[in-house]
Amino acid sequence: MNMCTPQGQRLAASNMSRSRAILRLLLALCILSCNTSISSSASTADAFLHCLAAAIPPHLLHTPPSPSYSPLLLSSARNLRFVTPGTPRPLAIVAAGEASHAQAAVRCGRLQGVRVRVRSGGHDYEGLSYLSLDPREPFALLDLAALRAVRVDPARAEAWVGSGATLGELYYAVAAASRALAFPAGVCPTVGVGGHLCGGGFGTLMRRYGLAADHVLDAVLVDASGRLLNRTTMGEDLFWAIRGGGGESFGVVLSWKLRLVRVPESVTVFTIRRSRNQSATHLIAKWQEIAPALPPDLYLRVVVHNQDAQFQSLFLGRCDRLVRLMRARFSDLGMVRADCEEITWIQSTVYFAFRSSSKPLELLLDRGTKPDSYVKAKSDYVQEAIPWHVWESTWTWLAKQEAGILILDPYGGGMGSVAPSATPFPHRKGNLYNLQYYSSWSENGTDAFDKHMAWVRGLYKQMEPYVSKNPRTGYVNYRDLDLGRNELGSNVTSYAKARVWGEKYFKGNFERLAAVKAMVDPGDFFRNEQSIPPLPAVKGWNSM
Ligand SMILES: Cc1cc2nc3c(=O)[nH]c(=O)nc-3n(C[C@H](O)[C@H](O)[C@H](O)COP(=O)(O)OP(=O)(O)OC[C@H]3O[C@@H](n4cnc5c(N)ncnc54)[C@H](O)[C@@H]3O)c2cc1C
Ligand SMILES: *[C@@H]1O[C@H](CO)[C@@H](O)[C@H](O)[C@H]1NC(C)=O
Ligand SMILES: *[C@@H]1O[C@H](CO)[C@@H](O)[C@H](O)[C@H]1NC(C)=O
Ligand SMILES: *[C@@H]1O[C@H](CO)[C@@H](O)[C@H](O)[C@H]1NC(C)=O
Ligand SMILES: *[C@@H]1O[C@H](CO)[C@@H](O)[C@H](O)[C@H]1NC(C)=O
Repeated sequence: MNMCTPQGQRLAASNMSRSRAILRLLLALCILSCNTSISSSASTADAFLHCLAAAIPPHLLHTPPSPSYSPLLLSSARNLRFVTPGTPRPLAIVAAGEASHAQAAVRCGRLQGVRVRVRSGGHDYEGLSYLSLDPREPFALLDLAALRAVRVDPARAEAWVGSGATLGELYYAVAAASRALAFPAGVCPTVGVGGHLCGGGFGTLMRRYGLAADHVLDAVLVDASGRLLNRTTMGEDLFWAIRGGGGESFGVVLSWKLRLVRVPESVTVFTIRRSRNQSATHLIAKWQEIAPALPPDLYLRVVVHNQDAQFQSLFLGRCDRLVRLMRARFSDLGMVRADCEEITWIQSTVYFAFRSSSKPLELLLDRGTKPDSYVKAKSDYVQEAIPWHVWESTWTWLAKQEAGILILDPYGGGMGSVAPSATPFPHRKGNLYNLQYYSSWSENGTDAFDKHMAWVRGLYKQMEPYVSKNPRTGYVNYRDLDLGRNELGSNVTSYAKARVWGEKYFKGNFERLAAVKAMVDPGDFFRNEQSIPPLPAVKGWNSM
């Protein structure tokens, strides 16, 4: 099972009209056809679209009657759960081609009472970058997919990357500029840089180098007033908040300056599969204490699926040393020379995404064109090894016909050496690993839906006694609305209510995030079902 293979199709060149006359017609049609809950604010939509039309070329504005609207809406949506006919849709999509288009979307939105949902790669597990769960709230989608330039400066080991780039596009460009450089971020190449960096971002290099967000040197952002700011002009508080505080809350990040990291020209990967009857239970139980304590150059995750555990590894070195290390630290796994593949770092990104190192690197550039499965995921942090008998009992869950997979991502190493308050991402020292419950399915209909959702939620419930507590923490980039959500109908999001889910993602950093929010967006323009609320001036004054 592979969670990140994009559909094989190439992004078809979409057929976008450039005629102003057609745009005017479309605007008129939209106002007539927008559904009744929004039609009360038809004049809002009208005024918003006219405001935009003054600043943005018509071929970059897409409204529901336009043939380009649906393909664009679906283009980077990753979850069929949120593209059903009943899902509230944006009253317009702004396909930003430059910074001023994003600024106009924010300014016009502020002026006319239309909120803006920002989308980079569209991988949000709850679809928050392209839908609103509250049909009362008219919104526009600001799509950054076209802002995806990557400029690498190999001499300085730095890069500027547009938020709309995917991780695959970033990795490809870095490797094309230098075989000695890499960037430490997520495993799935279609994930967008924008949302990923906003929430932290971890992958195969994290035990050596930490999070993607730990390597941000500067950023360009559109704030709630529509101003374009960089690190110097936004100030260190806001710059802190955008590196792990989750997407949407603080503004639109257009681009990022990154510090690249060094990798050897040859790295080693392996995948070892052990089934339940080959002592997989015992190996997983042992792995929990071994993997987070391995040298930082060695990443060894486990993917549990069916009645199998797959141990997948990236080692920043050669096979000889790896075999010696594995023999010394985890001999029970039985890793041998024949398991090794010595490849380049960029090939290792293909290996992890597509289960083969010999596939072409160009696969990293495939962004996909539409969602092909329903997805639900949840996450936990594990701080003490889960007992053997609990792992033994999970096989029954994994044998179910509707079973998903478990992904165990080892922390330790460079993940533990950063202070929990250095960035909003608090899950550092003391966490053995991140545990992700992930289900994806393609059968439609409520039966399949209910069964898969129940599987994820049921296993998560079962694990409660064995994972982090007070609060039971999770990773904001594995967004989970079961943890709680903002009520969008009220004017400003309630801080007191948001703490319930906010401290699960951010622990003690949640209050500082809310204080930054109060400073930079007190009117709560940038919000969604799990955005950071402004900290009330007098704390505890009411439960607004
Ligand atoms: C198949 C799959 C594999 C994944 N693998 C990993 C992994 O290996 N490691 C890991 O850490 N995570 C992983 N993730 C989670 C991923 O990091 C998050 O879903 C991330 O937020 C996606 O970024 P995006 O730009 O694609 O998402 P989007 O849906 O575009 O955005 C996510 C959120 O951020 C906001 N946002 C987006 N762009 C901006 C911007 N430029 N400025 C401000 N706000 C913005 C959106 O409004 C939304 O709220 C995976 C997700 C999926 C679906
Ligand atoms: C940030 O913006 C200010 C004002 O536009 C500019 O003077 C400064 O050079 C910029 N800083 C960087 C690092 O680009
Ligand atoms: C172990 O499991 C594998 C795959 O699940 C199966 O093919 C094999 O027959 C099993 N072996 C034993 C001894 O049960
Ligand atoms: C399921 O798929 C079929 C065939 O594509 C379609 O006709 C039907 O409307 C779908 N049902 C739901 C509930 O989405
Ligand atoms: C919410 O907004 C409406 C309309 O702007 C306003 O009339 C009302 O007083 C606001 N309510 C609160 C609690 O601020």
